[in-house]
Amino acid sequence: AQRIQSKVMGSRLKILGTTVSTQEEAKALAEEGAPEGTLVIAEEQTGGKGRMGRKWFSPYGKGIWMSLVLRPEQPLHYTPQLTLLTGVAVCRAVRKVTGVMAGLKWPNDLLVDGRKICGILLESAAEDEHVRYCIAGIGISANLDRDDYPEELTGIGTSLKIEAGEPIDRMALIATVMEEFEMLYELYRKDGFQPVASLWEALSVTLGKRVSIQTARGPIEGMADGLDASGALRVRTDAGEQIPVFSGDVELRR
Ligand code: BTN
Repeated sequence: AQRIQSKVMGSRLKILGTTVSTQEEAKALAEEGAPEGTLVIAEEQTGGKGRMGRKWFSPYGKGIWMSLVLRPEQPLHYTPQLTLLTGVAVCRAVRKVTGVMAGLKWPNDLLVDGRKICGILLESAAEDEHVRYCIAGIGISANLDRDDYPEELTGIGTSLKIEAGEPIDRMALIATVMEEFEMLYELYRKDGFQPVASLWEALSVTLGKRVSIQTARGPIEGMADGLDASGALRVRTDAGEQIPVFSGDVELRR
């Protein structure tokens, strides 16, 4: 197995068999003062969490279920940028290690031919609008077989093994995700969000497509044009209006 070469990211590891959720484990460690780069990995999650209160299917030994502790020195409203940064890191690592040409769907899904292969959940703890810590949760469906999926996920989810036609070396992928993450995080700290946004745009399957987005303020339909400086998705409606979308569920239209 490959060793993690990055200096900070993944320099401290907690590897678990079965746990409820690596997010909760990482949060507990962060509350105890765990440094930036602490990584919690589990073979199985019994209460894997997705965005918007959804469950995340995390069967034993089949995936990469992991959570990374971050301590960015920045206001809370910048954290959506870290979701996008995490997506870029995972997408680059997946392409490098497996050759599977996954693409990014705003804000945080990795897709292969429209099927989901990875989800990212970023959670933050803040005090007075200043971040105490963030937990970047990454769920990669690495070695699931077709018959592992419950009925409600068939056609929606796929795995790297299914797409690549051979099992994935999970440790090699974890190590590369950490290296890519560290490189991007340094870039982000030095030069801000713009270079990360450009990389995200280049890997995106959302931009230039017609999208329909469910937001808290109702549905928005239009063309996905790009990211703005905060990481919001710029949507151009048929009326020619430019709307920044900060959160929501994106449906890609043909
Ligand atoms: C989503 O697409 O809705 C986000 C899914 C995030 C899943 C990962 S798996 C590791 C970490 N622990 C969790 O409980 N969730 C995240």
